[in-house]
Amino acid sequence: MSNRYEGQSVLVTGGAQGLGLAMAHRFAAEGASVHIADVDPKALAKLDEAPIDGTGRFVAHQVDVSDSTAVDKWVNGVAAADGRIDVLVNNAGIIRDNRVEKIDDADWDAVISVNLTASFYGVRAVMPHMKEREYGRIVSFSSMSWRGNFGQANYVAAKAGIVGLTRTIALEGARKGITANAIAPGLIETPMLASMNAPAREKLIGKVPLGHSGDPSDIAEAAAFLASPEARYITGVVLDVDGGLGIGSSIR
Ligand SMILES: NC(=O)c1ccc[n+]([C@@H]2O[C@H](COP(=O)([O-])OP(=O)(O)OC[C@H]3O[C@@H](n4cnc5c(N)ncnc54)[C@H](O)[C@@H]3O)[C@@H](O)[C@H]2O)c1
Repeated sequence: MSNRYEGQSVLVTGGAQGLGLAMAHRFAAEGASVHIADVDPKALAKLDEAPIDGTGRFVAHQVDVSDSTAVDKWVNGVAAADGRIDVLVNNAGIIRDNRVEKIDDADWDAVISVNLTASFYGVRAVMPHMKEREYGRIVSFSSMSWRGNFGQANYVAAKAGIVGLTRTIALEGARKGITANAIAPGLIETPMLASMNAPAREKLIGKVPLGHSGDPSDIAEAAAFLASPEARYITGVVLDVDGGLGIGSSIR
């Protein structure tokens, strides 16, 4: 494993489990000081004992990323402690699936808030720190669903919003050494995927051109590249990591 992230300060939201945790391990394995913000105190507590396969470290922070004051405090605290912020990964996300006429106000607001508004709060908070050092990498989580998906109007609206946010931040950060990209995962084996209705999940997995669901390490690999210094000429893209599912219909 290389040490691409040695000395870097990397922020990962929703990093106490699932894709966020896999990315946190990957960044730490490559030397980063990884600051994980999550709302789940039990999962955060486990991070203290988590063995790290590399020279980096984990710092767990209990933060609700849908609270802008809490996000500002977290980001500014990390910047003060580490003296730098190199990477922000906007990964925290939730689903509250239903047909549009059955989505109540609370389920609309919660999904937009955690998946989209929280990413805006994170970006707004890190931008001054990144601009000051003229370096930054922002990776935000969209989804294969951003193009539209039955029963997910709130989630799709948020994940399409991430695409617009990312492309705009890419323009605003470009002259200051800041890149912004999004990852659009397909079906990846995490607690979120496990919470889906089982027959629907199996049916969807059957449609993946590569023939199987993805592993969190597949996402970690993509994020570790997009957030690296080597990805300096890539900005404003949405990277599908979905085994080909986003390509569209297949006659097989
Ligand atoms: N797993 C998939 O197949 C898949 C597919 C497409 C997109 N995604 C996206 O990838 C991201 C990660 O998904 P996952 O499967 O690892 O989900 P997950 O449910 O396994 O983990 C999400 C994490 O976010 C945390 N979180 C939730 N609300 C929060 C809040 N308000 N503040 C801070 N932390 C909060 C949770 O505690 C949890 O640790 C999400 O944005 C999701 O929409 C996942």
